[in-house]
Amino acid sequence: MAARLRINSPKRNKRLQTGWEGFFPYYAGFPELFARELLQSAKLPRGAVILDPWNGSGTTTYAANALGLNAVGIDLNPVMIIVARARLLPPSEADHLRPLAATILSHAHSAPPTLSPDDALLGWFEPETAAFIRGIEQNIRRSLVGSMTKSPEGVHLDKISGTAATLYVALFAACRKLVARFQSSNPTWLRAPKKDEARVVAAQIVVARSFGDNVRGMSAALALKREADRLLTNAPRIGDSKILLSDTATMALENESIDLALTSPPYCTRIDYTAATRIELAVLGPLLSTGARALGKQMIGTTQVPDNTIDVDATWGKTCAAFLKQLKAHPSKASGGYYYRTHLDYYDKMTRSIERLASALKPGGRAILVVQDSYYKELHNDLPKIISEIGQAHGLSLKQRKDFHLRSMSDIHRGRLSYERPSGATESVLCFAR
Ligand SMILES: C[S@@+](CC[C@H](N)C(=O)[O-])C[C@H]1O[C@@H](n2cnc3c(N)ncnc32)[C@H](O)[C@@H]1O
Repeated sequence: MAARLRINSPKRNKRLQTGWEGFFPYYAGFPELFARELLQSAKLPRGAVILDPWNGSGTTTYAANALGLNAVGIDLNPVMIIVARARLLPPSEADHLRPLAATILSHAHSAPPTLSPDDALLGWFEPETAAFIRGIEQNIRRSLVGSMTKSPEGVHLDKISGTAATLYVALFAACRKLVARFQSSNPTWLRAPKKDEARVVAAQIVVARSFGDNVRGMSAALALKREADRLLTNAPRIGDSKILLSDTATMALENESIDLALTSPPYCTRIDYTAATRIELAVLGPLLSTGARALGKQMIGTTQVPDNTIDVDATWGKTCAAFLKQLKAHPSKASGGYYYRTHLDYYDKMTRSIERLASALKPGGRAILVVQDSYYKELHNDLPKIISEIGQAHGLSLKQRKDFHLRSMSDIHRGRLSYERPSGATESVLCFAR
C-alpha cells in the first residue's frame, strides 16, 4: 500500500525563504518545506522520478533534488526555466560566481552595445541605462551560454548552464529593484511606464553595484549551504533534474515514466503569469523566440481571448458544465462573451494538460495538485471539485483531499465587493492515484 502523505499548509510564507531560498521570491509558489515533507513522506524508491508540470520557480524540483530524487520540471515561461535552473546550482559552484561577475562587468563597462530601437528594456529604462543592462546581459550570454544551447531557431533555454542562469537571476533582481516604482500592490502585476511618464535613469555604477551585490549575496548563501551539507553525515546523493520549456497542453512526456507529480497548476483567477515577469522577459529578449504577448496567450489562465472556437467537453465534468452555464447566462457585462470564452480556454487547456499528466504517471503513481477556488461575481468556481472530476475522467482516482482556508486580496478589499460570496478562498491539496 502507498505510504500516507504528510500534508502541511501550502500557503506561501516569505519568512521561511531565507539564505539561498531567499533569492527565488517568485509569486505563486508553495513553500519548500511543504514540498520536501510531502516528498519524504511518499517513501519513494531510489531512482524515482518526480514531475512538476507547472514548475514555476522550481520548488518541487529543488526539494526533490535535495532528497536525491530525480525530477522533471516543466514551465512555459522562459523566466521560470532560468529561475528553476539557477535554484539547482550545486553549492560547489559558490566560489566561481564572483570572478565571473567581475569579468562580465568589466566587459560591459568597456563596451556598452548599441541598443536595437525595439529592445524591450526601453519600455522601462532610458537608452543609456538600458544599453548598460543589455551589455551585462550580452556578456553573460557570450561567456556562458554555450554553443550547445544555440540552434538556428534560437536558444534552447532548457540547456542553459546553472551558472549562467544564476547570473541572469542576479540581473533580474537588479532590474526589479530599479523598476520598483512600477510594481503595483498586486504582486502579479508590474506595469510599464505610461507614454508621458519618465523612464528609469541609473548610472552604470548603480546598476553594476546592484548586480554585483546580488552575486555576492548568492555566492555567500550558496557557500553556507555547502557548509551545512558538509555537516550532514547522511547526505543523500543529489538527484538528476531536467527543467524543460514546454506547454503542458501539448507536452510530449514518455508514458508511464513518472512516479509522483507534485504541482500547483495556474489558478482560474485571471492571473497573467507573464505580466508578473515582464521585466525579466525584457532582459531575456534576445534569447526568446516568442514575444511576450504571444507567450501570454499560450498560458493557462490568460486574460486574452482564444483564437479558436472551444466547446464544453463532457470530460470537464458536471460541476464545470453547471458553472459555465451560469456564467454564460450571467446578466453582467461581457459575462456571456469575453469571460465565458476565457473560461472555456482555461478548462480546455487544463483538461488537455491533466490528460497528458495522467498518461505520464506509472500505474499506481500519484499526482498531488494544490488548487484554489475562486468566484466569478457570486458564482462559485469550485476548481478543486472540477479538477477532481477532470482527473477522474482521465483515469485518476482521488485518494485524499485536505483543505486550507486562505485570506485573499478580496478579503482585504471586501468593502468594494458588490456580490455576495464567502470571505477568502479555499486552497485544496488533492492527492490522486493512477
Ligand atoms: C501556480 S504557478 C506554479 C508555482 C510553483 N509551484 C512554484 O513553486 O513556484 C503556475 C505556473 O504555471 C505556468 N504555466 C501557465 N500555463 C502553462 C502552460 N500552458 N504550460 C506550462 N506551464 C504553464 C506559469 O508560468 C506558472 O509558472
